[in-house]
Amino acid sequence: MPGILPTVFTAFMDKFLVRGGKPLKGKIEIGGAKNSALPCLAATLLTPETVTLHNVPYVKDLITQRRLLEDLGATVLTPELRTHKVTARNVQIYEAPYELVKTMRASVLALGPLLARFGQAKVSLPGGCAIGTRPIDLHLKAFEQLGATVSLESGDVVARAPKGRLVGNNIEFEKVTVTGTENVMMAAALGSGKTVIKNAAQEPEIEDLAELLNKMGARIKGAGTPVIEIEGVEALGGAEHTIIPDRIETGTFMVAAAITHGELEIKSCRPEHIKAVINKLREAGVEIEELNQSTLHVRCGSGGLKAKDVTTEPHPDFPTDMQAQYMALMTQAEGESKVIETIFENRFMHASELIRMGADINISGNTAVVRGKTKLMGAPIIASDLRASASLVLAALCAEGETLIDRVYHIDRGYETIVRKFRSLGADIQRITESIAIAADESAK
Ligand code: EPU
Repeated sequence: MPGILPTVFTAFMDKFLVRGGKPLKGKIEIGGAKNSALPCLAATLLTPETVTLHNVPYVKDLITQRRLLEDLGATVLTPELRTHKVTARNVQIYEAPYELVKTMRASVLALGPLLARFGQAKVSLPGGCAIGTRPIDLHLKAFEQLGATVSLESGDVVARAPKGRLVGNNIEFEKVTVTGTENVMMAAALGSGKTVIKNAAQEPEIEDLAELLNKMGARIKGAGTPVIEIEGVEALGGAEHTIIPDRIETGTFMVAAAITHGELEIKSCRPEHIKAVINKLREAGVEIEELNQSTLHVRCGSGGLKAKDVTTEPHPDFPTDMQAQYMALMTQAEGESKVIETIFENRFMHASELIRMGADINISGNTAVVRGKTKLMGAPIIASDLRASASLVLAALCAEGETLIDRVYHIDRGYETIVRKFRSLGADIQRITESIAIAADESAK
């Protein structure tokens, strides 16, 4: 049709091109924790008043979480890039649709707050993802224990509080679940009576969420321990809160310093949140000095890297979210190490890509045996999930030659301006954006 431009959809297929072999040097600032900002943003649904969150990382998952809040009817202002002022006064929809949940499982964190405040919630049941089946049965069972009815309708979880309000109860999780603990903590905060969560997750993100909820008027004790006590209150109000630093970003840069034989000062972090990683890296020969409560100085020790086994466990033990990065490091350590993954059943997808680069890794069940030290060579490789992508970038930074990493949209979900950060430390890494323009001139037909 003359004068009317065809509709053009643009799909971005970004890749990273990394030329390895440069030791990283300099200072780096750690951003806010993705896995704390996600539940804290969900918690804003618990009150009609304004909640202001600072240090929200500018990553894809947080943009998705913001969109979810806006779709539900909340107003989200960002006076600064990392400050979100959320007012959930006019929420009229109580639903997280499949389109959002399929891109980000953390959308299930809307379930607890919506159910608690409005007595109803509908959230698409997330399917499995690259790292495992990841059911939410424990969240749902706990909601039932708080008096909700829960049913599955056409792929959606539909939860209702029959009397409009949840009722406190004793909940013992069969298995430690991070977002499950968060969902129940948010739901019980507005319930009637007392809830005790046993076998609760103890991650720093749980403590951070509890701190925000208490600022909003909740009565929560014990967050950060296996037993959390919540006295339900009638209503919650506005609050202002700063998200804690991202401990996994911190750990990733610690490995970056060691694997490239560089030297980094890591600022604005919280070493006490990542003790298990610091201890394991020290055992493996990484020199880590705590300059103060928020700064680490990290470099590879003069004796080189030594192979050390690791097993992932819930906090305070070694986090599954650092397993892939640690495996990349072990390819550069002298000797044989076992990397045992106990949290997710399918979190070794990075191993086959590391093998393409020259690593010697054998997988049997939940155990990867890494034999080092092997020379890594640049190759075209594919990222399969967020932390796998981080591990591949780390491997590429120490590999000889060029590595082209495909599907880096995974890394954008959780690492803020990762290319800019690595470049500021001397890495030779660039983002290549290939846009495929598809002329979809449907309207003209
Ligand atoms: N599980 C169940 N049933 C449930 C819930 C969990 O069987 O109802 C199982 C899971 O399948 C898994 C284990 O329990 O085997 C632990 O899962 P958890 O619920 O703790 O994981 P999550 O809450 O879905 C959060 C983080 C993950 C992190 C895990 C473990 C957020 C938004 N996500 O997920 O982060 O790996 O805890 O620490 O907090 C990442 O950032 O890359 C990431 C995947």
